[in-house]
Amino acid sequence: QVVLPDKEQFLMPSYACQRLTPLESHNNKFTEALSLLAENAELNNEEGRAVAFRRAAAVLKALPVMVTSATQLRGLPCLGEHSQRVIKDIIENGVSNEVESTMHSERFKALKLLTGIFGVGAKTADRWFKEGIQSLTQLVHSGHELNPAQQAGLEHYHDLNQPVTKAEAEAIGDIVRRVVLDVLPGSEMTLTGGFRRGKMTGHDVDFLITHPDEGKETGLISKVVSLLTAQGLLLYQKTTRNSYMENKGRLAQPSSTMDRFERCFCIFKLEIKEMRPDKDWRAVRVDLVVAPISQYAFAVLGWTGSKLFERELRRWASQVKSMSLSSHALFDIKQCKYLRTTSEEEIFSHLGLEFIPPTERNA
Ligand code: GTP
Ligand code: MN
Ligand code: MN
Repeated sequence: QVVLPDKEQFLMPSYACQRLTPLESHNNKFTEALSLLAENAELNNEEGRAVAFRRAAAVLKALPVMVTSATQLRGLPCLGEHSQRVIKDIIENGVSNEVESTMHSERFKALKLLTGIFGVGAKTADRWFKEGIQSLTQLVHSGHELNPAQQAGLEHYHDLNQPVTKAEAEAIGDIVRRVVLDVLPGSEMTLTGGFRRGKMTGHDVDFLITHPDEGKETGLISKVVSLLTAQGLLLYQKTTRNSYMENKGRLAQPSSTMDRFERCFCIFKLEIKEMRPDKDWRAVRVDLVVAPISQYAFAVLGWTGSKLFERELRRWASQVKSMSLSSHALFDIKQCKYLRTTSEEEIFSHLGLEFIPPTERNA
């Protein structure tokens, strides 16, 4: 592995969308530590701290060499005092005590376990933890009424916490595509999310669907869901219709990651080839999203991730370019107009950024 000579320093632009971030990093032990602190901050509802740790981790992910000395950190962006201390501890002692004690704390372990249930967020997990619930058994016996998502999440807890493989994603893609084309011939479907960034596994499978004739895609998702349900392929589903037009004038909110596309968050029942004695299928989380063709490029960009990369793109757009970027549109605030595009390349170009291919968006 390449080791950086002392004193040599790196020039690195400060927004993650200005640099390449491949999947494989040279600094895993640092980025894993910082990501754990970010995750802990998220579980504690400390959004600002979480983003600071995520940005610091992303800088180390983008470094083309392994960090071996604290002097190499000088001049790098986004490394606050706290993150620098963690990195130095790891350089000097091999581990960070803060990371170790966080990782092994009862609270962190319980909150991770509870938020590992589909449908359970940080706030709910925290409330349960404060009531003394630290395990799934305790949750079941607590008498808490779970909503349908959480019931399904608990029922399929094991499967949903098993990484989804690329092969499984493709198998689901084949099934869904067939149904989509049955319902609306000529439709197009793209695998987005982590798999589009080159990941070999994921926590779910994300698909984006469109049709070349604008408007034909309206209502597609409910028909697809009905057919999949009739075939016994959905263990859980929650479908939301498109609410973009209802909210015109309030769109492209830079801080919001939620969009208004027609979508379905579901749990798919995937048959597995190698027959196990007990079970010949597994549960897989699948996100289906439908975008009109005029918004498709923005939707692909918005659903490819990573989450931090998306956040940085929106921050760049608003802070540097006075534009508002969402998964629907790009709005130029100074010129007071929407910038139309048909490709991701054009969106980067409108934003004054060099194009970053999906496999380099692993910030
Ligand atoms: P894994 O699934 O863990 O492999 O990673 P992933 O990067 O695919 O994460 P995830 O499936 O959670 O999200 C994929 C991308 O879609 C990320 O960039 C998210 O920011 C984005 N995303 C997730 N939910 C929404 C949403 O409601 N609206 C929009 N616009 N984007 C979303
Ligand atoms: Mn995903
Ligand atoms: Mn997803």
